[in-house]
Amino acid sequence: MAMVIDDVVARETRHVLQTYKRNPLTLVRGQGVRLFDTNGREYYDLLSGIGVASLGHSHPTLARAIADQAQTLIHTSNLFYHPLQGQLAERLAELSGLPRAFFCNSGTEAVEACLKFARRYWHTKGEPRAEFVALDESFHGRTFGSLSVTSDEHYRQPFEPLLPTVKFVKTNDAAALTAAVSTATAAIIAEPVLGEGGVRPLTPDFAAAIKAACAKTGALFIADEVQSGLGRTGYPFYFQALGLTPQLVSVGKALGSGVPIGAALISQQVADTISYGDHGTTYGGNLLACRAAITVLEEIFDRGVADNIKRVGTIFEQRLRAIAATHQGLVKEVRGAGLMWGLELTRDAAPVVPAGIERGVIVNRTAETVVRLLPPFIITEAEALEALGRLDAALAASGAQA
Ligand SMILES: Cc1ncc(COP(=O)(O)O)c(C=O)c1O
Repeated sequence: MAMVIDDVVARETRHVLQTYKRNPLTLVRGQGVRLFDTNGREYYDLLSGIGVASLGHSHPTLARAIADQAQTLIHTSNLFYHPLQGQLAERLAELSGLPRAFFCNSGTEAVEACLKFARRYWHTKGEPRAEFVALDESFHGRTFGSLSVTSDEHYRQPFEPLLPTVKFVKTNDAAALTAAVSTATAAIIAEPVLGEGGVRPLTPDFAAAIKAACAKTGALFIADEVQSGLGRTGYPFYFQALGLTPQLVSVGKALGSGVPIGAALISQQVADTISYGDHGTTYGGNLLACRAAITVLEEIFDRGVADNIKRVGTIFEQRLRAIAATHQGLVKEVRGAGLMWGLELTRDAAPVVPAGIERGVIVNRTAETVVRLLPPFIITEAEALEALGRLDAALAASGAQA
């Protein structure tokens, strides 16, 4: 069965920079949790475009809001006021407890802004601190600053030298973190649930060590919630579940449900050290992106989607643990929260992806051995059971190939 169109592949191969080895699937339409290929074949989307399509595909309220905004005003630049940035910033402040937002267009830009604001904070205090402490298995993005705090050698090595002032510590090793953080540390940066690193929640002990190290040295804490934030784990932000109080938080992905938008959320203490012209962006926070994000947050937090994440998240956990029990020897561990799950396999998880596509379910492999699930927040119980049934079959088939 042809799942790609030869013409699409040929043109891409000639003219698109080959930075991604794509799956052999050409997707043309989406509806809720389902995607459709050029033959009209359906796939349950348990990936959401890597944690982005929070409201699923073609959500009618979001589509209407985007269309209405496109017909009203899309972009003005940050040289003028418009009514939507403040509205979105206020909403994010209510959810995060951080009173200020800087808007940008992607996760890596949000992280980049957090790193710069941390440096700026120490400069303004007249006590410049250059160092960042980050985690092994972390992923924070592809621009130079974000890449400098990303541990994977495969991503880093071709672009070195990166920022020289980053110390990496083993994830969830409280003693290593405590030893690494000093009065030279500008900030600790961590994903409260490591995403690309294999869906690894920080442990309560490690969170306590972050808190203690910040209290002792004055180091700031940057929570990178690009993947775990905005309801994905059943909490508005997973740092809240861990009892952490970051001064800076990066968000992206789910915020626009496909319309590119990111944000750095900032404490008043840090915001007070930042002046006009310190950072900027042409597109960041334009009307189209803000309108989409306001609509997404209303759907998640005012119209029952957050409750759906908790309810269907429980079904995910139960069903995944049952699947793990039937695939003993293949599934080593089930990790996650809400609608963010990883199945750690005893071997490379790569064969599960094509086996899933064959059975009409889209999943992702990360950190070599982990099957990662980031379904849309609007997935129903029935859809979850159907999609996980297909994943179960894909695991069985890929296990048979081992
Ligand atoms: C935790 C985290 N931070 C930052 C990023 C970078 O986001 P983007 O790809 O939108 O630049 C990602 C992307 O996967 C991420 O998972």
